[in-house]
Amino acid sequence: MIQTVAIAGAGTMGSGIALSAALAGYNVVLLDTFEGALDKAIISIQKNLHTLVQKGKLPESELQQVLLRIQTSGNPETCVADLIIEAIVEKMEAKTSLLLRLASVNAPHCIIASNTSSLSITGIQEKLPHPHRVAGLHFFNPAHIMKLVEVIKGKQTDVATIHELVQFSKQLGKTPVVCTDAPGFIVNRVARHFYLESMKAVENGMATVEQVDDIMEATGFKMGPFKLMDMIGMDINLAVSQSLFEAFNHEERFRPSNLQIQKVEKGELGKKTGKGFYQYD
Ligand SMILES: NC(=O)c1ccc[n+]([C@@H]2O[C@H](COP(=O)([O-])OP(=O)(O)OC[C@H]3O[C@@H](n4cnc5c(N)ncnc54)[C@H](O)[C@@H]3O)[C@@H](O)[C@H]2O)c1
Repeated sequence: MIQTVAIAGAGTMGSGIALSAALAGYNVVLLDTFEGALDKAIISIQKNLHTLVQKGKLPESELQQVLLRIQTSGNPETCVADLIIEAIVEKMEAKTSLLLRLASVNAPHCIIASNTSSLSITGIQEKLPHPHRVAGLHFFNPAHIMKLVEVIKGKQTDVATIHELVQFSKQLGKTPVVCTDAPGFIVNRVARHFYLESMKAVENGMATVEQVDDIMEATGFKMGPFKLMDMIGMDINLAVSQSLFEAFNHEERFRPSNLQIQKVEKGELGKKTGKGFYQYD
């Protein structure tokens, strides 16, 4: 039974997943090893909690209790839980080396789930001691609001693990969809062209960033591709593009855009750095 959830990585996604789990009554340990990341995450969680209260979605009397369910840690060795959700940088080597450390301090029954957008769950589980307890749990941004969760079954993931993750997602009020472990799973594979074609149109001088966003929003998308990329983070979006390009043997349709490469080189990563395709100061 899942009671305590450790979230590794307190960035955009980790802080949102931590809030979602705490709102559902779970005890949460939020781990980040980078200076300042945990303070930033707690500020963002507090801000989101106040917004939920203002919107009448959370009674004010419960705000403090939710916050108290979230403990922070800078040390992987202290992260003992029934479920670990990894949400660190989109790099296989970084993910597997941290997960190995976490697996060594946790019981064999602990489920290890990765929030990766595009890396192979089968590849991650091969490196870990109890591969049948490893799966993908892919939340969407902002994680405390978006309902969809992709639950990804790696080659060695057992049925019980998938069942527990589906139940856990439902406890969070989410809509879980079980997916096969294929590059980009479902959403990131289909949505890749929403981003890449939009950037190609701007690179070719066919349209401006604002025009593409306005038109896509007018056709019914909640957010245009450029606003969405700013929210996701340019570094994360580029890493996903590169990962799919590799996984599809350099198929031209998955080639990363120079526009996103330049943005990452300039450190214009979107909302999290105050500038991306738009300015946020
Ligand atoms: N941003 C999105 O919209 C989105 C959506 C779905 C899934 N994801 C996936 O979630 C993961 C995280 O993305 P993000 O946007 O939250 O990234 P982010 O850059 O906002 O946050 C990553 C956090 O991980 C921390 N970190 C890095 N290496 C670490 C380590 N070894 N140990 C502990 N902490 C470490 C960093 O300090 C940072 O706080 C990625 O795998 C990404 O593909 C992102």
